[in-house]
Amino acid sequence: MSKPKVFVTRRWPDAVEARLQHLFDPIFNDSDRPLGEMDLLQAMSHADALLPTVTDRMGASAFPVEQPRVKIIANYGVGFSHIDIASARNRGLVVTNTPDVLSECTADLALTLMLMVARRAGEGERELRNGGWTGWRPTHLVGQKLSGKILGIVGFGRIGRETARRARFGFGMTILVHNRSKVDAAVLAEFGARQVDDLDELVGQSDFVSLHCPGGEANRNLIDAKRLDRMKPTAYLINTARGEVVDEDALADALNTAKIAGAGLDVFDGEPDVRACLLDCPNAVLLPHLGSATRETREAMGYRVIDNLVAYFAGDEPGDRVV
Ligand code: DGY
Repeated sequence: MSKPKVFVTRRWPDAVEARLQHLFDPIFNDSDRPLGEMDLLQAMSHADALLPTVTDRMGASAFPVEQPRVKIIANYGVGFSHIDIASARNRGLVVTNTPDVLSECTADLALTLMLMVARRAGEGERELRNGGWTGWRPTHLVGQKLSGKILGIVGFGRIGRETARRARFGFGMTILVHNRSKVDAAVLAEFGARQVDDLDELVGQSDFVSLHCPGGEANRNLIDAKRLDRMKPTAYLINTARGEVVDEDALADALNTAKIAGAGLDVFDGEPDVRACLLDCPNAVLLPHLGSATRETREAMGYRVIDNLVAYFAGDEPGDRVV
């Protein structure tokens, strides 16, 4: 029996590509450049499975009008707001993602950003490399402690919880949680956390606001000018979720006018383009979407995709089916 043909839109870790090669008939994108809509359309008519990443913008027009050959979109990543789910559903396609395996690394990166921005590590490194460091002095690049502060977590799924764990048990932070649904009392108790239903209240009380909710149109500009206004002037905004969750122009304004103390961002609306107004903010730490970027996690994400494909082609329900 011939192996299913799977179209892989970007290069994956070597070990995972080798496994794909063993189990399937893969088509790799050797250039590793993001594909356009036409490439994706073609891929859907030539392969049985499409294996995209967050860089593949699969809006409604990336789906062929007729029923495609592709039967499953096995996304390499947990977030899937780049895929038009209604179009996938209309064509009867299965969509899977890769939860769990990247929660720890993404939480680590949220803490990295909190430390970098509050301890002014980005500013310090730029100063040193630019030859501007004149030596130690009591007033030099003075930041803020994390220890004992209030962390407001928006979205208390797996990544939000791992972030809470690190903040609570590593830094003795007090955890506030905003979540669409009621969080189990036992889960809140594990982190000594309190659920705050009103997001305005959470942003107003927190010293750090860390975003861990899904992206997409439903959450576009969830953090807008009004909510930034409610934040303490000493507070920091951290985004490892999706760029569109924050109104980035309003954020740049809040950073420039000292309405908030700083921001740590790993994701951007329209990335890899980053607004000049953010690039110009010294009190913003900006990273190129590194949340899941460890060898262990990037391999685990690939194996998770493979598990989903193996189940699907064996006629079973894939473990991480979202549609
Ligand atoms: C995801 O998985 O959604 C990340 O943003 C990319 O690793």
